[in-house]
Amino acid sequence: MTKLCVLGMGYIGLPTALLFANNGIDVVGVDINERVVNTLKTGRMPFEEEGFQELLEGAYQKKSFRASTKVEEADIFLIAVPTPFDAELHMADLKYVVSACEMITPYIKKGNLVIVESTIPPKTCEKRIRKILEKSNLKVSQDFYISHCPERAIPGNTLYEMINNDRVIGGLNQKATELTRDLYSTFVKGELYLTTCTTAEMIKLMENTYRDVNIALANELAMLAQEYNINIWEAIDIANKHPRVNIHRPGPGVGGHCIAIDPWFLTENTNDSSLITLARNINDSMPIHVLKKVKELVNGLENPVITVFGVAYKGDIADTRATPALKFIKLAEKEGYTVKIYDPFVKEFEYPILSMEEAVEGSDCIVVLTDHSEFREIDSDFLVCEMRNPNVVDSKNILPKQKNPFINYLSI
Ligand SMILES: NC(=O)c1ccc[n+]([C@@H]2O[C@H](COP(=O)([O-])OP(=O)(O)OC[C@H]3O[C@@H](n4cnc5c(N)ncnc54)[C@H](O)[C@@H]3O)[C@@H](O)[C@H]2O)c1
Repeated sequence: MTKLCVLGMGYIGLPTALLFANNGIDVVGVDINERVVNTLKTGRMPFEEEGFQELLEGAYQKKSFRASTKVEEADIFLIAVPTPFDAELHMADLKYVVSACEMITPYIKKGNLVIVESTIPPKTCEKRIRKILEKSNLKVSQDFYISHCPERAIPGNTLYEMINNDRVIGGLNQKATELTRDLYSTFVKGELYLTTCTTAEMIKLMENTYRDVNIALANELAMLAQEYNINIWEAIDIANKHPRVNIHRPGPGVGGHCIAIDPWFLTENTNDSSLITLARNINDSMPIHVLKKVKELVNGLENPVITVFGVAYKGDIADTRATPALKFIKLAEKEGYTVKIYDPFVKEFEYPILSMEEAVEGSDCIVVLTDHSEFREIDSDFLVCEMRNPNVVDSKNILPKQKNPFINYLSI
């Protein structure tokens, strides 16, 4: 039985490890966080999503999964540790990837395969990771193999996408690519596209950059549309009926740990990026634009109280990583506004999360920053009754389409 050692029991590494463990691979899941490992040892998932707990139980029943804080010898190592963004240097921070590689190096044997799933800048495998792993005194592509297989599953639908999405696989040589393909074939139903390692690194970043640039275009179009008093949402919907047009949705900015970050991994090594950098800056400036809309509505009011609806970076999830809501809240506080927050999913945040009633009572303006489905059904009469001044900025166009005549609405 093939033995796999997965480093990083987070949102990506853990479900991936469990999918392998449920499909004929003997897996040890390694994390440096003892709390995560201890939780797994008691048979519980450290975080929840549909199907995760059942997958863990299935793996334990098959006796094909163990959690540990220590790396062990294995046939294949898979790295799924974080690659955060160094905001000061505008670069990928590779410290976790480097330390994961250093942890593996003493255990590398002839014939081993090391797969990197973490998102990394182009050439990271060839230049950085290779150098660390070759301290084992074994030669890459002769004695052992390295490949990149980027993860593109979406939080909230992780398992379905891990199984059904197409995947990109790029080895530093053909054998690495083939070994990686054979491993993922155990559970992936989508196509496996084989290419070079650097191409695979680049593709993952290109995909998220495409989306970031497209969102920036939508944001710029939204701002232009105001000049002509046009409903941008209707305009985009109709434009997208064209068979070759797919304009994304405007909004209060881009959050999460992929789309808002990956474009910088692509541009960190060049002076020649203008479009990608511009798009990043447009999207990062959107909280300022939303605040301008709020100012229009609360202008003249004394000590305005504003209510943020939604701090998760996207709808129907609890994840607040890199959420544009944080910048908006800090800007609003700087403006002297009192900010109250409601989010039906988020439990932990830099600011207190209130119940909807507490957040709405006495408010002068509700600002919708996340498209949680619940907001579609919101009772506008309740808002009119509870607010001090019934103003709304709906930056996600999610509130009921039937507008309440007693509420002043603005889009972005
Ligand atoms: N979450 C997503 O939706 C998503 C999607 C696509 C790609 N990615 C990429 O996948 C990678 C992992 O992301 P994530 O969301 O799973 O991260 P995460 O923060 O959820 O989990 C990472 C885990 O790695 C552990 N860790 C750190 N250093 C370690 C080491 N040396 N050895 C063992 N464990 C270590 C941490 O303790 C943590 O539990 C990142 O590069 C990310 O950009 C994530």
